[in-house]
Amino acid sequence: MDAVDDVSADSAAAREELRGEIKGSSPLARDTVTPGTHPNSRFHESAIKHVTGRASYIDDLKAPADALHVALALSPVAHGRLTQLDLDKVRSMPGVVDVVGFHDVPGHTDIGPVFPGDPIFVEDEISYVGQVLFAVAAESHRAAREAVNAALAQGIAEIDEQPACLDPVAAAERGEFVRPTHVQQSGDWEQALASAAHVVEAEQFVGGQEHFYLEGQACLVQPTEDEGVIVHTSNQHPSETQKLVAEVLGIPFHAVTVEVRRMGGGFGGKETQASPWACIAALVARRTGRTTRVRLPRADDMRVTGKRHPFHNRYRLGVDEQGVIQGGEITVIGDCGYSPDLSDAIVDRAMFHSDNAYSLGEARVTGHRARTHTASNTAFRGFGGPQGMMVIEAAMDDIARRIGEDPLTVRKRNFYRPGRQTTHYGQQVDQIKLLRELVEQLETSSEYWARRRAITEFNAESPIIKRGLALTPVKFGISFTAKHLNQAGALLHVYTDGSVMINHGGTEMGQGLHTKICQVVARELGLDVDEVRITATRTDKVPNTSPTAASSGADLNGQAARDACVKLKQRLFDFAHEHLYKDQGLDREEMRMEAGHLVAGHGESERRIPWGELVQSAYLNRISLSEKGFYATPLIHYDRNVGQGRPFYYYAFGAAVAEVSVDTLSGEYQVERVDILHDVGDSLNPAIDIGQVEGGFIQGMGWLTSEELKWNEAGRLISDGPATYKIPTYGDLPPVFNVKLMEGHPNSMASIYRSKAVGEPPFMLGMAVWSALRDALASLADYAEAPRLDTPATPERVLLAAEELRSRYDSAQLERGAP
Ligand code: MTE
Ligand code: HPA
Ligand code: MOS
Repeated sequence: MDAVDDVSADSAAAREELRGEIKGSSPLARDTVTPGTHPNSRFHESAIKHVTGRASYIDDLKAPADALHVALALSPVAHGRLTQLDLDKVRSMPGVVDVVGFHDVPGHTDIGPVFPGDPIFVEDEISYVGQVLFAVAAESHRAAREAVNAALAQGIAEIDEQPACLDPVAAAERGEFVRPTHVQQSGDWEQALASAAHVVEAEQFVGGQEHFYLEGQACLVQPTEDEGVIVHTSNQHPSETQKLVAEVLGIPFHAVTVEVRRMGGGFGGKETQASPWACIAALVARRTGRTTRVRLPRADDMRVTGKRHPFHNRYRLGVDEQGVIQGGEITVIGDCGYSPDLSDAIVDRAMFHSDNAYSLGEARVTGHRARTHTASNTAFRGFGGPQGMMVIEAAMDDIARRIGEDPLTVRKRNFYRPGRQTTHYGQQVDQIKLLRELVEQLETSSEYWARRRAITEFNAESPIIKRGLALTPVKFGISFTAKHLNQAGALLHVYTDGSVMINHGGTEMGQGLHTKICQVVARELGLDVDEVRITATRTDKVPNTSPTAASSGADLNGQAARDACVKLKQRLFDFAHEHLYKDQGLDREEMRMEAGHLVAGHGESERRIPWGELVQSAYLNRISLSEKGFYATPLIHYDRNVGQGRPFYYYAFGAAVAEVSVDTLSGEYQVERVDILHDVGDSLNPAIDIGQVEGGFIQGMGWLTSEELKWNEAGRLISDGPATYKIPTYGDLPPVFNVKLMEGHPNSMASIYRSKAVGEPPFMLGMAVWSALRDALASLADYAEAPRLDTPATPERVLLAAEELRSRYDSAQLERGAP
């Protein structure tokens, strides 16, 4: 709001001229949150810099004139052996300053983040198309790329190609896994199946997803005067990059400083997979003594880095006459690519979410981690949760068709409820009433049942265009499932002019984390947000940090920042009590920070000291004005040996209603309307949270509809740029898009100001669009069956499903002699 003054006079004038004109009726042009309506609704801390182009990303950082540019030589084959690599030939090419391969690494050569398995360069075995064979550093990026191309064309790398495995189901059948299979079980699932009124079963393929962050993988590394480096990187996990760079160089961690000001999007793709480029750049920087840049061209980025895991899921569930699940089994197979990366935790999270919001009863859930010859798949918003939820959402639609009820009715019957409140992994689901209320509110506000009737009537009259409607819920577990990651630190400085600087372990990727942390500090210290400045995330300010992931950034770092503020406040209160108010008998316990003042006492005896004065006199009295904070999430635990525990501190909830219309002769479809109600507890910043809900939904919708990854038979990714890989664009926004935050339900757990994490959960609201597509298609079979619809549900897949269903139902009607 106030930050608007920061734009230049010209743009302010242009803005004024257009006021009222640029607003159209489309959802993006409207004011999401009217300024002033909610005191916590603040602009993103960098909003003005984002839109005026003054926010620096890695490529904007100035480097010395002699900085080097790196290009990577990538494997052209998916599987084989590197039998010969003659790097000397490359060293003499024009503009080339250094060439590095496996044998040039002084320290560790395996940079696997959690488990080994990721060589920094190929030594011998090649595991996917795009794996890095070697790197060339040159005076310009063009010279580096030309040298790489010339070198590969001259055959300096000799490869003995072998057959590649690209099919995760076949890999699972052969027992080719990157990590062992894990099972979660509650009760006697076989008995539940045997005694159920109906058994419903199906299989599905759920596709992967390219992160498509706008800023690709990039870093800039400066050598320091001793053995170390300073690494500027677009990165969700600075501490892990620090560790890996130090290990690759064979130097102590304290010689490596990693700095992240912001990312142009991460979405999970920079949790582990930003590190290799930093390691390579650090290697070159140390060898040459020159600042070194790595910036992956988009097609390289898409080929080299892993994606959301594609999954093959199967379920077999026993239900009663009402469609209520009694028990059964679910199997998920994650396609992990060639190495473990984070796949153990990702497939676990798929398993933890294969119930979504429904009680599975007596169930067994099995998760396999299949190895294939593709890039190593990695974290992506939802972290396996979305792929796991898809299996039970498919089952809900299938059960509804089997028993002839509306899918929403069946979903509601299966929600966690009193008596059926424990998940298959042993965690009690709190706030079950909240989900029920949320869904009921949304049912009403979206006019679900009136629209359902209208759609059924419409479809009966419309042979080609079919409309579909669906409401799908989300229950998403909040906490890292690796317990030790649920910790955070913060560093608070107050300077003698009263200005405040906060630093914490989280990174900013557009999600508004820094804004929220500034708000926490301002609130604790009773200051205006503008008085609090946040600085770049740095491993030398707050050490040993967790990745900014699992939606936990604000939960963890907000608590750590608050802890630092509370400690500093206590010290200032002690000081004020001792030195300023001792003779006045003012109660130490009642001291507080309010509107830029320390306030003591009440009514007549109230005393106020302005913040600036307080800070000055504390300094003169030699009181420290700096503090660090720490937080570790309580209560959580999970015993992987028995597959039981309480892995999540709490759950975040939400629901979406989507309406689609499908042209069943071409498969083309349109999302007509979307209504969302989402639970963020007591929001830290409603404006930012609504942005997260809208963005998450659209990204989830893209995953399930238009974003299709294609590999050729040789395992080469052929959808390697925006021309062939389609993320949602402006035109894909639903023309009616109502997004609201649930009100009046603070977090039942003691999270930061009773808020809830918001980053990932709304992603899974996109499932409403997929379910609505199945609903539209089911009308072709008189709603007796919902067709299998693998994802992404491209027009091609929708058309094939429509044709298959139509041919079967039309011939069945002919046989019965129907008109
Ligand atoms: N929002 C934006 N604009 N850009 C991003 O890269 N990443 C998502 C989500 N929202 C992302 C985003 C993912 S995958 C996660 S885990 C969370 O933000 C991480 O941030 P948080 O923990 O601070 O919510
Ligand atoms: N979510 C996201 N990232 C992670 C997790 C998780 O549960 N565990 C380890 N990295
Ligand atoms: Mo998000 S996938 O946990 O970075």
